[in-house]
Amino acid sequence: MSAEDARAIARAFAPVRPWGNRWDYYYTLSKLRSDPLYPGVLDALRGTRAPVLDMGCGLGLLAHALRRDGQHLPYRGVDNDAAKVDRGRDVAARSGLDATCFERMDLATTLPEHRGSVAILDVLQYLPAAAQAHLLQRAAAMLDDDSRLVMRMALADHTRRGRISRLGDRAAHLIGWMQFRPRHYPDADSLQAQLQQAGLSVRITPLYGRTPFNNWLVVAQRS
Ligand SMILES: C[S@@+](CC[C@H](N)C(=O)[O-])C[C@H]1O[C@@H](n2cnc3c(N)ncnc32)[C@H](O)[C@@H]1O
Repeated sequence: MSAEDARAIARAFAPVRPWGNRWDYYYTLSKLRSDPLYPGVLDALRGTRAPVLDMGCGLGLLAHALRRDGQHLPYRGVDNDAAKVDRGRDVAARSGLDATCFERMDLATTLPEHRGSVAILDVLQYLPAAAQAHLLQRAAAMLDDDSRLVMRMALADHTRRGRISRLGDRAAHLIGWMQFRPRHYPDADSLQAQLQQAGLSVRITPLYGRTPFNNWLVVAQRS
């Protein structure tokens, strides 16, 4: 993502009044500048036209990145953090992002109805293993021929990157940015087997860029 795109998106998260809280602004600016997440996801969705369900959407940065990239796909974000969902909804409305909606939802207990593409970005590890398996099965069933399942996650392994990812997730919880602690890190082989069993072809590639984390991009579609 260009520096100009990152600045423009982050500016939308700056407080309306000069004395307001600038945390979301600095967080989004540094994430967009340093993390290859959104370029990877935008590439994976480019050329599709199906609506996007963003599970664990946080502030809804994906909606901004899609519009900035000229991808006018209808967007629905769900997340169990009510405060982030409210801020995400307000900023999207203030920014004039059309065809976007946000909803509070706990993915450990509830899964939305949807037909189209699904994004699950840095979220899977916050669900217990059984809930992850259920979510992946349901997400696979949401895809039609024109859509993709796009996920990014830290995979379970014993590399230095794996350890740094686990520490980073725990630190995010300790400082209060993440309400919950990670529950289970999936491994590449079982993830791939599960998605293939659901009739999808799967591509798993590194997506950590210059960050120290063990992040991988998973793109799946009907085979
Ligand atoms: C690291 S953030 C990623 C946010 C967003 N996907 C992104 O890439 O910017 C993880 C998100 O998952 C959400 N989350 C964690 N457990 C969840 C659950 N059980 N149901 C819904 N959302 C959850 C958190 O509230 C948080 O917003």
